[in-house]
Amino acid sequence: MDLNLTFATHLFLTGHYEYINNNRKSFPKEISLDRVLSGVQASGRLHLGNLVGALQNWVRLQDKYDCFYFIADWHALTTGYANPSAIKESTQDILVNFLAAGLDPERCTIFIQSKIFQHAELHLLLSMITPLGWLERVPTYKEKQQELKDRDLSTYGFLGYPLLQTADIIIYRAKYVPVGVDQVPHLEISREIARRFNHLYKEVFHEPEALLTEFPKVPGIDGRKMSKSYDNAIYLSDSPRVVEQKILTMVTDPARKRRTDCGDPEKSPVYQLHKIFSPKEEQSEIAEGCRTAGIGCIDCKRVLIRNLFKILEPIWEKRDELIANPKLVMEIAEKGTDKARKVAEETMQVVRDVMGLR
Ligand code: TRP
Repeated sequence: MDLNLTFATHLFLTGHYEYINNNRKSFPKEISLDRVLSGVQASGRLHLGNLVGALQNWVRLQDKYDCFYFIADWHALTTGYANPSAIKESTQDILVNFLAAGLDPERCTIFIQSKIFQHAELHLLLSMITPLGWLERVPTYKEKQQELKDRDLSTYGFLGYPLLQTADIIIYRAKYVPVGVDQVPHLEISREIARRFNHLYKEVFHEPEALLTEFPKVPGIDGRKMSKSYDNAIYLSDSPRVVEQKILTMVTDPARKRRTDCGDPEKSPVYQLHKIFSPKEEQSEIAEGCRTAGIGCIDCKRVLIRNLFKILEPIWEKRDELIANPKLVMEIAEKGTDKARKVAEETMQVVRDVMGLR
């Protein structure tokens, strides 16, 4: 399925497409744009995989939807409850990188989950109507427990992870949730819970839909998927020197032991990164050079470093400015959080009412 086409078709069908193209600058977003919401769990620093797989897409969505983006620090506690200082650091890193990567507080709402108690209240109220079996059946529940065997995840909070995520989404009556395919089961249960609530009490919630867009898989420096848990990530907060060092130590096609050996670019994660970060012409030159041993792995990596720096430099620059001005960053988060809280509170007034709490 061509997901981009689906998305374009959707814009066209909803009439937003032409409107946006003709009124890009002056479009008054309050009118009738559908709401998009997404979040990142505060359990680590953001890396290139997050940039390509989420942030760049979120930046694009800012002008087409009423976008709400947040940092899920409560979610980070579900698995990281034993290490709260990491959550604080991660929250700060994510916030700065949201802004450095181009999320614009004038065009989207940026907030921090734990500052909006209404999410917790809705989570509690939804827990009354959520059958345990629904939560136990979510595939990520057992998978994550397996993956993080060193932690005790037989907790109430961890089982409720998708329920808290449901509260995050439906409290804003969000229509679309841009996420990776790994999150689809969570969206599925969100829809079921919204439906159950609407059926029991009143049509209050939208059934949210995942907004799936196809992204290239970003390999880490060891060739596996880039992930903080594999310790193979290039972080947005890495200094230029560290990025350079990481690329230089990357694995390449194992068949190319000597400079004179011919290689297969498709077997090299460095080439996978070229496909994402280098211009097309350069990609074919690199591939050809690898196949014919015309260039060495270090030459290939140098080109990648140059192209990657072109993309990262504006982000680094903005990041440095923001880090030098922590007050501004805090104000942005507070303003976004206040705005989100108003919307959340509106929903909660109806929810409390229909659940007999007034
Ligand atoms: N579970 C999401 C992830 O791991 C993070 C998240 C929490 C989220 N609440 C959300 C994503 C609401 C989208 C909407 O990436």
